[in-house]
Amino acid sequence: MIERIVNSEAGEDENTEQTEVTLRPRDFTSYIGQENAKRNLRLAIQAAQKRGEAIDHVLLHGPPGLGKTTLAGVIAREMGTNLRVTSGPAIERAGDLASLLTNIEDGDILFIDEIHRLPRSVEEVLYPAMEDFRLDIMVGKGPSARSLQLDLPAFTIIGATTRVGSLSAPLRDRFGMVHRLEFYTHQEMVEILHRSGSIIGIAVASEAADEIARRARLTPRVANRLLRRVRDLADVKGDGSLTQDIAREALTMLEIDELGLDGADRMLLSTIIENHNGGPVGIDTIAALVSEERTTIEDVYEPYLMQIGFLERTPRGRRVSAQAYRHLDYDTGDNPALV
Ligand code: ADE
Repeated sequence: MIERIVNSEAGEDENTEQTEVTLRPRDFTSYIGQENAKRNLRLAIQAAQKRGEAIDHVLLHGPPGLGKTTLAGVIAREMGTNLRVTSGPAIERAGDLASLLTNIEDGDILFIDEIHRLPRSVEEVLYPAMEDFRLDIMVGKGPSARSLQLDLPAFTIIGATTRVGSLSAPLRDRFGMVHRLEFYTHQEMVEILHRSGSIIGIAVASEAADEIARRARLTPRVANRLLRRVRDLADVKGDGSLTQDIAREALTMLEIDELGLDGADRMLLSTIIENHNGGPVGIDTIAALVSEERTTIEDVYEPYLMQIGFLERTPRGRRVSAQAYRHLDYDTGDNPALV
């Protein structure tokens, strides 16, 4: 797999790394963007607090790096409850879920990242837990196996996934609120960069914020990562102030172009152009050609390429747009399907 600075997935230590943690907004006031989700969640929190209840279960979906984990933290803080964090692949057996749930306190929030990767056997224990706050598990094996039922305190599950389509219908139906996180607007990205700059103690000139925002794939995680690399160059080459020239030079060194595409995106697009005349071509063929996992292409590369109109998903496969041809300096003349 290729290491990419523009990868919107969290890096190995990015969820725990001090810098990343301090850059995360902790309440709705400092959380920029996602206005629709924020408005609905704020209301749900106010109503739950007025009634003295836990808020309904929340499902957050959308491409990586847009703030699903951060939003879960904000919800817990605004509710004044504990946040426990786990992930679909970390809960291997029903017993793992049982031990998480039996340690939960009234009103707590259990955040399950990558919830689409929960094993089916675990999902089945989760349903009654979500619906009736009841734990219903089998203990023991064979003739001595018996079922154990436990009442749980009222709690909230916040599930996060990049692939809402992979969730089973019964699981999806148990969430009272479902929000899709959207790519940020350019203006929101600029605001986030100014905010992050002030937290890490660097004044970001507005042209520099503009430059980084343009190349950060409308994704805050990428913006914050680029900001640190640009700051490195500002510290080493300049006097530490972050100007547009420094931003441009650093981003060029990282081989990120004006639209935020890196070498891997360009290779993906040019492979479809050169080997399949721009498509349509099946996703598995593309995955084989660029030596990437199909899911990585679908979850990490494609959302942004589709957002900027460079790639289209059709029933017959992926197709590159005329805009992408022009951006990569390919002649569209020999492909009448594009015109
Ligand atoms: N840093 C990362 N995501 C952010 C957001 N949505 N608002 C403010 N700062 C952020």
